[in-house]
Amino acid sequence: MLKKNISHSIKLMQYYKMINYNLIYNNKAINRYKKNNFEISEDKSKRLDLLKKSIINIKNCYLKKQAKNLVFCDGNPKSKIMLIGEAPGAHEDKEGLPFVGRAGMLLDKMLAAINLDREKVYISNIINYRPPENRRPTDEEIKRYLPFITKHIEIINPKILVLLGSTAMNALIGSNNVISKMRGKWIEKKFGSCRASVIITFHPAFLMRQPAQKKFAWIDLKMIKEKKRYLKI
Ligand code: URA
Repeated sequence: MLKKNISHSIKLMQYYKMINYNLIYNNKAINRYKKNNFEISEDKSKRLDLLKKSIINIKNCYLKKQAKNLVFCDGNPKSKIMLIGEAPGAHEDKEGLPFVGRAGMLLDKMLAAINLDREKVYISNIINYRPPENRRPTDEEIKRYLPFITKHIEIINPKILVLLGSTAMNALIGSNNVISKMRGKWIEKKFGSCRASVIITFHPAFLMRQPAQKKFAWIDLKMIKEKKRYLKI
């Protein structure tokens, strides 16, 4: 009899787990605003949707006309760590997600080295549509998309902002200094109402071309890990 009861309880627990028993036993209101399965507030969800729509509604944009898809974001919109790259490449354009090509694979490895992954960070780019032939976005294109990424940062409200490569650095820090001088330092910066600790590091595509520079990227990653520990995030 006891054995039968235990086996019944185990089956019941497995069943509750399967149907997410929090929905049954948790008295708290269920947050139904989900982005990629991450629960976020209704306000954040609306603001992200609005931002996405305003990018979709851009008029007379050559990049948008040429691109297959808008590349808006990947990762966890609740994360306190946001990474920003340059612009989508061919894979990203096809999938509609940032950093899914070879540079993305290296980025995933870099994140894994400090116990991070796409569930723990949020990723976007300065430019949301692929520049043809993967060319660098022009100054004019960057100027056009800058208000969107600035708003994006403000909505996500990260505590740590990681700028990948010189395009993100030039656009968001306004520095024309060489990246080798600017990387590996913390800069406190405000983006609207968001105050973030910003760090610049090498872009993974650059690291694939210049593997000798990986040792510097490793120093930057360790600084991010330490900052994360210090900020208790
Ligand atoms: N390089 C970037 O800067 N962003 C991507 O999304 C992919 C490659």
